[in-house]
Amino acid sequence: MSERYAERGVDEKAPDVGELTPPDRTLMGPGPSDVHPRVLKAMSTPLVGHLDPSFVEIMDEVQELLRYTFRTDNQWTIPVSGTGSASMEAAIGNLVEPGDTMLVPTNGYFGGRMKSMAERAGGEVVEVDAPWGEPLDPVDVERGFNEHQPDVFGFVHAETSTGVRQPNVSELTDIAHAHDAFVIADCVTSLGGVEMRVDEWGVDAAYSGPQKCLSCPPGASPLTLNDRAMDKVLDREEPARSWYLDLSLLEGYWGDERAYHHTAPITNVYALREALRLVAEEGIEERWTRHREVAGDLKVGLRDLGLEMNAPDEYWLPSLNAVRVPDGVDDAAVIDRLLDEYDLEIASGLGDLEGDIWRIGCMGHSARPKNVEYVLAALEGALAEQGY
Ligand SMILES: Cc1ncc(COP(=O)(O)O)c(C=O)c1O
Repeated sequence: MSERYAERGVDEKAPDVGELTPPDRTLMGPGPSDVHPRVLKAMSTPLVGHLDPSFVEIMDEVQELLRYTFRTDNQWTIPVSGTGSASMEAAIGNLVEPGDTMLVPTNGYFGGRMKSMAERAGGEVVEVDAPWGEPLDPVDVERGFNEHQPDVFGFVHAETSTGVRQPNVSELTDIAHAHDAFVIADCVTSLGGVEMRVDEWGVDAAYSGPQKCLSCPPGASPLTLNDRAMDKVLDREEPARSWYLDLSLLEGYWGDERAYHHTAPITNVYALREALRLVAEEGIEERWTRHREVAGDLKVGLRDLGLEMNAPDEYWLPSLNAVRVPDGVDDAAVIDRLLDEYDLEIASGLGDLEGDIWRIGCMGHSARPKNVEYVLAALEGALAEQGY
């Protein structure tokens, strides 16, 4: 038993856990990114009730700010309580009905997650292939539509596992709409950092997470659906399999009624509001430019170190830079060295790219020149220690 507790006569089973002192990391991995101090400050403001009139106003503001950030006028734009996987499952689990067919990509880790979620929703899954590290080719998507006539098509706009940005979004949505299908876009690693225009590009439903280019802790995750997609959700023959993520029920809370469904994560909504306010202050297009420029400097610096990017410029993803591990270098040792010596987080490759790449994030508040200089200096040091 802890002496500290014993002196005070505290229950001997009470765990004596010390004060919270997390290390002071610089987060340049695949997310979370460094949280902006203003967001942290917003999180330390007092709670109000989730139905308090002042909170209802905050909900309206968050919805308006989300529409701005998604570049959409969709009425149905909300933060889903939970991490990015919650907004992802809300999109897939509501739009895919039992017996529907969903076309999903195989070119990265998160297409695999789409598949699992669509299957759990009772859907049939068919796949459109591309190697890990490459985007989908519209020709293959068209072939997938002709062969399988899917009801829903999902793609990952910013594949965090490979550092690939899906170009030609409008081309893909045109194909899907010509076949009367719905398009779901995974924008977890692009929203607020990489150009995404939900309305102009014809995306029917898009979801994201707050912990990437929005630099906000995870917990309330952006989701938007257009009226056509929401009509499908509201016309379902059987309810969505998840009660918690059933959008027809969530409509009661986020729609006009503002009635209780579940207790919203109030502090996370405050945080998201502040993070989105920062987006609006900077300007969404300016923010996309900043990410491109700062990550562009990172790319130049990496090339100066003799390192090679995994994705060609054509579909390079500024928010997640996949860098090839040079021959003879131990990728995990470099990651450990950066964390131990520099308090700097970067990540290894996943799946087909495990051991082949490092993943260096450049997202939101982490997308700053001083972070780029720091990561380049630290990498140079860690590589030199390995005789590179
Ligand atoms: C592209 C993509 N989709 C979905 C997710 C799932 O989000 P979360 O881990 O917040 O649940 C992630 C998380 O990294 C992601 O990168």
